[in-house]
Amino acid sequence: MRDFVAKKVQAVPPSGIRRFFDIAATMDDVISLGIGEPDFATPPSIVRAGIDSLESGATHYTSNSGIVELREALSDHLFGLYGVRYDPATELLITVGVSEALYLAFAATLDHGDEVVVPEPCFVAYNPEVILAGGTPVNVCTTVEDNFQVRADMVREVLTANTKAILIGYPNNPTGAVMSRERLMDIAGVAEENDLLVISDEIYDRLVYGTEHVCFPTLPGMRQRTILLGGFSKAYAMTGWRIGYIAAPPPLLAAMRKVHQYTIMSAPTIAQYAALEALRHGEEAVQEMRARYDRRRRLIVDGLNSIGLTCFEPKGAFYAFPSIAATGMTDEEFSERLLMEEKVACVPGSAFGASGAGHVRCSYATAYSQIEQALERMARFAQRHG
Ligand SMILES: Cc1ncc(COP(=O)(O)O)c(C=O)c1O
Repeated sequence: MRDFVAKKVQAVPPSGIRRFFDIAATMDDVISLGIGEPDFATPPSIVRAGIDSLESGATHYTSNSGIVELREALSDHLFGLYGVRYDPATELLITVGVSEALYLAFAATLDHGDEVVVPEPCFVAYNPEVILAGGTPVNVCTTVEDNFQVRADMVREVLTANTKAILIGYPNNPTGAVMSRERLMDIAGVAEENDLLVISDEIYDRLVYGTEHVCFPTLPGMRQRTILLGGFSKAYAMTGWRIGYIAAPPPLLAAMRKVHQYTIMSAPTIAQYAALEALRHGEEAVQEMRARYDRRRRLIVDGLNSIGLTCFEPKGAFYAFPSIAATGMTDEEFSERLLMEEKVACVPGSAFGASGAGHVRCSYATAYSQIEQALERMARFAQRHG
């Protein structure tokens, strides 16, 4: 029989994260710092809004773009936070999480052979999504010396006649890095000079600590060449609702809506009503969760540094990304042995790209007391292997 699986699908390696979850799932008493989602439940009023929508009969498809109330609220939300205004009718699309939004951005803009510059370490889906859309990811490696921020000269170095877009994702998963305004301005310069599209994944925009998040399309000249991706999963603890959005200029938005219309139809109706409640009344819950993440962030960063696992200070998202060089192990070996010997699960940095090697990702979207215990176990481990 022929091999029916498409070559582009064969070209995508399986996720390096899954393997560790699969091992951890078979063990008792594991403390997981491996998870990339909030441990908090969705705030009650948001859950209630979802239930109310179902009970009031909102069980049908919605407009392809999403319910108009949500798009209007989102337009106001982005204007309120960043001073950038998107037209609810022609510039906003409600999606099945940022996952779908990424897929749409690539599917609607990439032709076979188009290259996308993807700084790494990065979210595990970026490269596969580019490949599945027929494009070619071109990775540039960020380093701890640069605070894991991408530099314009690194991007310039890899540009070719086929480069169509730059994908940036800050605050970053897995490093927790946030881009400074200056660095973003430099990237904007590269985009302008070389007529590139910028796809900006800002799913962690609300989770920054003691610094500002710069929304990429607010930079001079960038609004017309940026696809802004945002979501509800992280800030409102709504991962399971599967809801996100895209903001982009009308021609790009129309192209993505076309793909969305034929593949998805509309985002889940109940999740759209829940997201509307999140935008209307969720701010207090966001602030409260952020304050709790911040407390855990300080605990884990100080803890890791004190046991000799040097940790860059993350300014956003909910990940710490310490170097494990002191143990002399590879990140794969470190993660596997830490799990087996001390029952703490974290993710090897190389799962997020070659430049993540020598690091591990520790999520602090886990209870404070669990992080304390995990640090005790890791201290024992580091001492044994230091
Ligand atoms: C950087 C980044 N982008 C996108 C996503 C996907 O999020 P969503 O739940 O909105 O699909 C994640 C999830 O972990 C992420 O870390």
